[in-house]
Amino acid sequence: MALQIGAISQKGGVGKSSIARLIAREYAVAGWDVKIADLDIAQATSTNWKQRREQNGIQPEIAVEPFRTVTQALKHASVYDLVVFDGKPHSNRETLEIAQACNLVVLPTGLSLDDLMPSVLLAHELVEAKIDKAKIVFALCRVGDRDNEIDEAREYVRKAGYQILAGSIPEKTAYRRASDVGKAMTEISFLSLRQRAEEVAQSVIDRLSKEG
Ligand SMILES: Nc1ncnc2c1ncn2[C@@H]1O[C@H](COP(=O)(O)OP(=O)(O)O)[C@@H](O)[C@H]1O
Ligand SMILES: [Mg+2]
Repeated sequence: MALQIGAISQKGGVGKSSIARLIAREYAVAGWDVKIADLDIAQATSTNWKQRREQNGIQPEIAVEPFRTVTQALKHASVYDLVVFDGKPHSNRETLEIAQACNLVVLPTGLSLDDLMPSVLLAHELVEAKIDKAKIVFALCRVGDRDNEIDEAREYVRKAGYQILAGSIPEKTAYRRASDVGKAMTEISFLSLRQRAEEVAQSVIDRLSKEG
């Protein structure tokens, strides 16, 4: 049975696809056979990213396939070591199905209450729907340069009763440019930004290796 990790949110633009690709890349570089299940078929963000990645000859190879439903994606899961579900926004049913299928679901969120409140609400809904709280983890994405804002967001999530990944991903042009050429956030040349992304990815890996 493949390991399954989801990146989910009810909102668009929070960093689901970026986080999914980050996680996929970090496992792939460690030798795992990884597939991203791109469930946002209207946007096909990760599917298009994979094409750019291939065109630019970036290694390691990461399989990406668009799927209309979680059930479809699961049918193809067993041949991989890891399937990362890149979720679509505004979809209660699919989001819950991803959470049910996955060993871990990452909820990327920005720092504003406009982002944090719906993210916590989604986590509450998942718990109400019998998803184990321990499988849910928040990731701070597109953050600014104020440490106190980051600390307050961490506190907000913690007080709501949820875990949060170590580190945070700043909002930076370099990440967008990297994505434009088919790279993941740990594949950019700026050392400090690569390390920020590595810290977040490592936090996912630590969580899952502890479990196993
Ligand atoms: N940390 C970041 N810094 C700069 N741009 C980012 C960052 N994270 C995401 N983006 C950009 O924001 C947009 C939305 O990100 P994406 O990961 O596709 O979110 P989602 O999948 O939740 O819609 C994309 O254009 C992406 O390149
Ligand atoms: Mg997306």
